[in-house]
Amino acid sequence: MSQIATAWSRLEDAAAGARTRRIAGLFDAEPRRLERLGLKAAGLDLDLSKEPWSLADLDVCLDLARAGDVEAARGRLFGGEAVNASEGRAALHMALRAPRGSDFRAQGEPVSADVEAMRTRMGAFAEAIRSGALRGASGKPFRSVVHIGIGGSDFGPRLVWEALRPVTPQIELRFVANVDPAEAAFALEGLDPAETLVVVVSKTFTTQETMTNARTIRDWLRAALGKAADAHMVAVSAAPDLAQAFGVPAEHVFGFGDWVGGRYSVWSAVGLSCVIGLGAAAFEALLAGAAAMDAHFQSAPLATNAPVLLALAHIFNRNGLDRRVRAVVPYAQRLHLLPNFLQQLEMESNGKRVTADGRPVAHATAAAVFGDAGTNVQHAFFQLMHQGTDVIPLDIIAVAEASEGDPAAQRILLANAVAQAEALMVGRAEADVRAELTAKGLSPAEIDTLAPQRTFPGNRPSAFILLDRLTPERLGALLALYEHKTFVEGVLWGINSFDQWGVELGKSLATRVLGELQGGPVGAHDPSTAALIAKLGG
Ligand code: F6P
Repeated sequence: MSQIATAWSRLEDAAAGARTRRIAGLFDAEPRRLERLGLKAAGLDLDLSKEPWSLADLDVCLDLARAGDVEAARGRLFGGEAVNASEGRAALHMALRAPRGSDFRAQGEPVSADVEAMRTRMGAFAEAIRSGALRGASGKPFRSVVHIGIGGSDFGPRLVWEALRPVTPQIELRFVANVDPAEAAFALEGLDPAETLVVVVSKTFTTQETMTNARTIRDWLRAALGKAADAHMVAVSAAPDLAQAFGVPAEHVFGFGDWVGGRYSVWSAVGLSCVIGLGAAAFEALLAGAAAMDAHFQSAPLATNAPVLLALAHIFNRNGLDRRVRAVVPYAQRLHLLPNFLQQLEMESNGKRVTADGRPVAHATAAAVFGDAGTNVQHAFFQLMHQGTDVIPLDIIAVAEASEGDPAAQRILLANAVAQAEALMVGRAEADVRAELTAKGLSPAEIDTLAPQRTFPGNRPSAFILLDRLTPERLGALLALYEHKTFVEGVLWGINSFDQWGVELGKSLATRVLGELQGGPVGAHDPSTAALIAKLGG
């Protein structure tokens, strides 16, 4: 057996022990548990002690990371090698947030000077808009930005804006991703075209949804401003020629390299709307926070490396304990979009069934991810988390100090975050429930019926990630933590985390069906699809 196959089988054996063991019992058995499973990285505080692994299991997982050559793979990633082999590209998003003066190379080509020049240009453009030096065609200052983009050209900027926006912003950002005309209609509601800047973000500048929305909103501008509307259009793309052909003036086109993957692109010009909305200094701080996590990921030993340990905890649940779904709950309303962001990051990166060299994977890959903001979710899916038939590992993200509002409400929020993690792990024994019901005077028959329903099995794992404050730096570090965690998992599963062939089939079929719905000849379909096309106008 190869070294990596041996390491995987040791992990599976270790996990077999975890199936019958109580997590809570490990704290007595392992006096160093909190210390070894508590980590500090780039200003984040991680507690992985409520995960189902013992410290011996952790060592087995670390052996897997060694056998899987995570450190060598990390070197290839940061070295700008073509780690996205199926597209022949590097994945060098770390270059976008590196301190000035760095020397990153994508497949040998230096990129850092261009990155810095683009950062400077974005900052200057944003500050010109914020100061009113750059105004709309009719001389009014810009008061709103409509950001059009989907997938990686939307989730990151939307999350960053929601997380960091002022309560009353100088410039308001609205986002349009879905091709559903309702989203554009709501986004434009109440906006004055004369005061609105439209930023079209698309790496390819061919994405059906984005181009449709861009045409709709360009028409909205033109109806009010005529030809001068073009001065209100900005484009961010790795295909700048297409952006100019669309009518965006060359000085309003911001580019980025093909070595920036869509879901890793918020750090590039894709974040331009946020630079305008938040100011250049805040965006630079976001980049600095991510760079701090990059430095940690590159230099910390495996045993204290936050992205590595978070990946291993998730792998222990996913592969060792066959947990196919995981939840992410930020106890911070400002982070309510984090689960959406992670859905693309984790499931588009690692939802793969063949290895980077085209063979079936030997181990199950990405878990499905879902979640929303705490405490709301406690009134939605936490019933299942506590008492459902499946165990769903949870990541809790909490922020110690609120950015605004009533500190008493913030304490309640934090109490809930802490209590839920404890309740999930500790549970409530049936004997305790029976004693309580007996004390209340219920009959034995009533107790037999009620006690099992009011029992909590516990032993449900969680990771707890604590931020002192939701600053741009901490947000940058948090997103980079999850990026590198996803990378480590991909390395151990042997897959290419940087392509996304799985989205292509649906896209091309949609183009064909659209032609049919528009009255073109209807081709061969299965009976169900043919009936839907007939109902909808084919
Ligand atoms: O969902 C598929 C995808 O290619 C994502 O990877 C990407 O983030 C998104 O579409 C948008 O692509 P683009 O930026 O080229 O419009």
